[in-house]
Amino acid sequence: MPMATPTDNVPAHMAIIMDGNGRWAQQRGLPRLKGHEAGTETVRRVMRFCRDAGVRYLTLYAFSTENWARPPAEILGLMSLLKRFLRDNEHELHEHQVRLRMIGRREDLERSVRQEIERVEAATQTHAQAELILALSYSGRSELVRAARLLATEAAAGRLRPDRISEETLRAQLYAPDVPDPDLIIRTSGELRISNFLLWQAAYSEWFITPVLWPDFGETEFRAALAAFAARDRRYGRVNENSPGGKPA
Ligand code: FPP
Repeated sequence: MPMATPTDNVPAHMAIIMDGNGRWAQQRGLPRLKGHEAGTETVRRVMRFCRDAGVRYLTLYAFSTENWARPPAEILGLMSLLKRFLRDNEHELHEHQVRLRMIGRREDLERSVRQEIERVEAATQTHAQAELILALSYSGRSELVRAARLLATEAAAGRLRPDRISEETLRAQLYAPDVPDPDLIIRTSGELRISNFLLWQAAYSEWFITPVLWPDFGETEFRAALAAFAARDRRYGRVNENSPGGKPA
């Protein structure tokens, strides 16, 4: 069966909290890094599913600011997996005209990781078919603090009146202000929390939570997420006169 076409009710922006790599490895008596390696294969698979389904923006929560508290060997392993992922998949980004972007605290990243990311970002900058957005050393709260600081700097310099600060001016200071808010956020491994992900942008996102661990996330779960999304009645706090009862959200 072919994937849905973009004309169906497909999310333009899908964001994923890729959880459960550690447990997947643990269940097999393997080191945690093997779970992250398997999770990297899932990333490749999901990029392909998104392309086939017509999802234009894919944001992946690859490393949170809180993840720096993990054992140094795991952090090192994740960073080298990331570099390898970029090297191994760059040709695919070019082939399918996918722009790579990073959101998060660049200044926290080790120089070679940052250089590799910025090299691929620059090389894919003009690709306009789709975007792969990696959240690295990312936290929603620190993104908002950064935005507040940038606005305060503008205000202190007399270039912005405090009473002119609005949702639009704040949004303009986020890492990727031109990217539309996620329509659908997927979280694997069954936890029911936002974990500091896209706090501003998730205001009206739909959620799909699956107990499946990230390395096991496959076509069945992807299709289930798309089907659940297509069945949702997105009201953004309004009343939908077309739905029975027209209940407010
Ligand atoms: C959460 O699982 C996952 C992470 C902290 C890292 C996600 C990274 C990858 C999937 C691989 C590298 C990324 C890219 C984009 C190539 P966990 O380790 O917290 O799992 P657990 O809750 O079962 O311990």
